[in-house]
Amino acid sequence: MREHWGSTAGFIVATIGAAVGLGNIWRFAYVTGENGGAAFLLVYLACVALIGLPLMIAELALGRRASADAVTAFQPGAGPLWRHAGWAGVVAAGLILSYYAVIAGWALRYVFGAATGGLWQADAAGYAAYFEGFIGHGMEPVLWQAAMLAAAALVVSGGIKDGIERLNRWLMPLLAVIVVLLAAFAVTLPGGMRGVAFILSPDWSALSRPAVYLNALGQAFFSLGVGMAVFITYAGYLDRRTSIPRAALAVAAGDTAFAIVAGLAIFPAVFAFGGDPAAGPKLAFITLPQVFAQMTGGIVIGLVFFLLLAAAALTSMMSLLEVPVSVLVHRWQLSRARAVTIVSLAVFLAGLPSALSYGLLRHWSIGGLPLLDLVDQTTSNILLPLAGLVCAVFVGWRLKPVVALTNADLGMTGVGWIWLWLLRIVVPATIVVILLRSSAWR
Ligand code: TRP
Repeated sequence: MREHWGSTAGFIVATIGAAVGLGNIWRFAYVTGENGGAAFLLVYLACVALIGLPLMIAELALGRRASADAVTAFQPGAGPLWRHAGWAGVVAAGLILSYYAVIAGWALRYVFGAATGGLWQADAAGYAAYFEGFIGHGMEPVLWQAAMLAAAALVVSGGIKDGIERLNRWLMPLLAVIVVLLAAFAVTLPGGMRGVAFILSPDWSALSRPAVYLNALGQAFFSLGVGMAVFITYAGYLDRRTSIPRAALAVAAGDTAFAIVAGLAIFPAVFAFGGDPAAGPKLAFITLPQVFAQMTGGIVIGLVFFLLLAAAALTSMMSLLEVPVSVLVHRWQLSRARAVTIVSLAVFLAGLPSALSYGLLRHWSIGGLPLLDLVDQTTSNILLPLAGLVCAVFVGWRLKPVVALTNADLGMTGVGWIWLWLLRIVVPATIVVILLRSSAWR
């Protein structure tokens, strides 16, 4: 018999766990910092509401309708083109996971560094050297990458209800409490309010830069986790009692709230200690430890922060892993344990170039990009929107409107039609724009 979630609440918590990850903490902070703060946030919110949410509803509807895996979901009644369309999302999920595990491994490495004190030995200016020393140190990044993958594999091999759902049920509420406490502490730092203003009071001049819109859209895709068949897969284990629009609303709201609160934990601390909010991807790994090192109680705060980062990454890794796993279990009738083993090994091997891209393979850059950045940008900027486009077109145009609307629990209502037309026109048009601009927007 096919597995199911234990309850609607369990499904929603697990799906929030998939959405909340490195994207909300590490990526949201640096992308917001680089794109001018509060004005970027407004564009981001619009992207979540007008593109992310409709696409999430479409993925959920498609997944529950098929009650199967992400490849099978595109097949009922479809021609030869659609027969294989689902693979785009499956392959993309595996590729994202391959480098995501590497960055999650960095976070885990910092947890240990903070706990053992090694992290605090670097002098205040030495965190760049500390970070580069670690990511360039022989096979060490591979060790941490493997540890994170093994943890995700262990949970996923426990199954949907007893593995994924159970872990998320206690971990996600804990993470929510931690991020709120971190933010409450950060905003009370002397000078912290400038960080609050940075993300909450818009500087409208940022809106004249086109890159702001494209970055906001890319960030919305990544942070919500749409486009990679995660929601198709998770909804494949869902029953009819759960309202899809409500679940999607809860997940999108939870994900966005998490990112904003994480921003309220990070930027006040950065401003209070004179860090650079536009430091880029190294914000969490170089700027923040520097800030923690100067702060009273920073040793504990730093440890808690990196624990949060690693744990949030873990629950997202589980969702990415489940996408190919469910395909192998469902289509090839492999046992879950075997499917998890095969997929994690493949993902581990695929991630080796990324893990070593700042060390042993540092000279292998392609087009000036280290391998990890190359995989990150190709998947986020090309594969992710492409897979999202496939899903929007399938649900928007290929399914009959009645079928799409009923499966999304929207019916032939006004809201339902608004959703369908967003999915038909706004979502594909915007995605095509990102794809055309993807070479120019970094
Ligand atoms: N959304 C997660 C994050 O914010 C990462 C993630 C999970 C993801 N599933 C995904 C990203 C699917 C893209 C597509 O870190």
